[in-house]
Formats: sequence, C-alpha cells, structure tokens
Amino acid sequence: MLILKTPAEIGLMRISSKIAAEVLAKLKKEMFPGITTGELDRIAESLILEKGGKPSFKGYRGYPASICASLNEEVVHGIPSDRKIKAGDLLKIDVGVYKEGFHGDVAETCAVGDVSLEAKRLQEITRKALYKAIEKSTTDNRVGDVSNAVQKVAEAAGYTVVREFTGHGIGRNLHEEPQVTNFGNAGTGIRIKEGMVFCIEPMINAGAAEVEILKDRWTVVTKDKNISAHFEHTIAILNGKAEILTSE
Ligand code: MF3
Ligand code: CO
Repeated sequence: MLILKTPAEIGLMRISSKIAAEVLAKLKKEMFPGITTGELDRIAESLILEKGGKPSFKGYRGYPASICASLNEEVVHGIPSDRKIKAGDLLKIDVGVYKEGFHGDVAETCAVGDVSLEAKRLQEITRKALYKAIEKSTTDNRVGDVSNAVQKVAEAAGYTVVREFTGHGIGRNLHEEPQVTNFGNAGTGIRIKEGMVFCIEPMINAGAAEVEILKDRWTVVTKDKNISAHFEHTIAILNGKAEILTSE
C-alpha cells in the first residue's frame, strides 16, 4: 500500500527531516581525523534527543546505533565503533530522525581531509545522480524515470550502481512504498503522485556493482573492495514537483 501524505502531514515531515539535516551538518563539523565513528554516533544521538526527536535507526530490525557510518569500501549500514577516521577516508553518514509521528532520512558522502581525485570524483558524481533524480521527481514522470536518472549519471561516468539496496517511501514508517531502485527504465513503474514522500539514495561503486554483508550482519561492502559513495534526501511531491525535506 502506498500512503500519500496531506500538506499538513508533509508539514510534520519537514520537522523530523530538518532535524536529520541539522544533525548531519553538525557531524560534518566534527569530522576531523582522529575522531571515532562511535563518537560521531554519540554526538548525533544526543543532538537528536535534545531537539525532541528519536533516532529512527536505533532498534530498527535490531540495528544497534543511531547513525550509520560507512568508510571507503563500505557502502552503507556501517555500525559506529571505536575506529578512528583518518585523512583520505571517504565517510558516508546516514541519519534518521523520528518526530511528530514521522521519519526523516538523509545521508551524505564526506571527504575526511584530502581524499584522492578518484574518491572526489565518485563523491561528486553520486551527488549529481541524487540531484538529477530529484529533478526527475515530478508528477509528469514515473518512478522508473527517477531510477533511470541515477543509473545514467553513474554509468556515464564509468561507475556501477548497487542493486541490492534501494530508496524507499517514508512516513510513519521508515520504509514504505514505493521502492526506488538505482537502476531501471525511463517511462516504467508507478506514476509519481501529489503527496508522495520518498527517499532517493544512490549507492554508486567505483568498481564492480557486487556487494556483500560483513559478519556483523549489517555493514554492506563492495566485493572488490573498491570505494563506494552514497547520498540520500527525503523529498515530498508538492505542486507537481519535488521539495527536499531534508534541508537545514
Ligand atoms: N537510510 C537507510 C535506509 O533507509 C538507513 C537504514 S539503517 C537501519 O535503509 F539501521 F535503520 F536499517
Ligand atoms: Co533511507
């Protein structure tokens, strides 16, 4: 079942989404070599609680932390730990916040200090894929147009998209319909409707598309250990086009 949101509900979703974006912005200011991903998690959790929200991820299917922090060849769902980040790392931070009965979900790939040109390029192409897909999120289009936009940007740059994890509708539940894959054919899938709220989250690999899950049962890594990037915004379809809810 696909749950459309009223303008009032979208108003509530702006609240949790804005907090998620603010927390991510704060983490970006703390992201210096030497800090651990666990410390970033604690900063995020206290900030979310301070703002009257709850971390969406903690306890979700048993997930043990408030954010996901994934380094380099880790694609998504990295569990914060006592591992220190260092200059040259590509760090993907994912933040989910629940407030007023609704979730907001945002993620960004960040460069710790100076990163390689290849890492920088992957980061920028993945950001571009997200924004291109947001542009395609209009009531004139279908979900396949959004998926296709991500795939086209990634593959034109010589990269591959992860197929096992996808974007998703969001609302009173963290994951709702529709599923928003990072690959697909333009003109296919369900029509984008007024009141739809969904997360677009390109996961793009520098090498091969294949991923595997580590023994911790969460961390998704590339099989070939090449680097990966991930960006995510929660968007709402209002007046026929996308409004980014996860902005500060
Ligand atoms: N943005 C991710 C998602 O939508 C984060 C989920 S982490 C989890 O799936 F722990 F909550 F699963
Ligand atoms: Co998400």
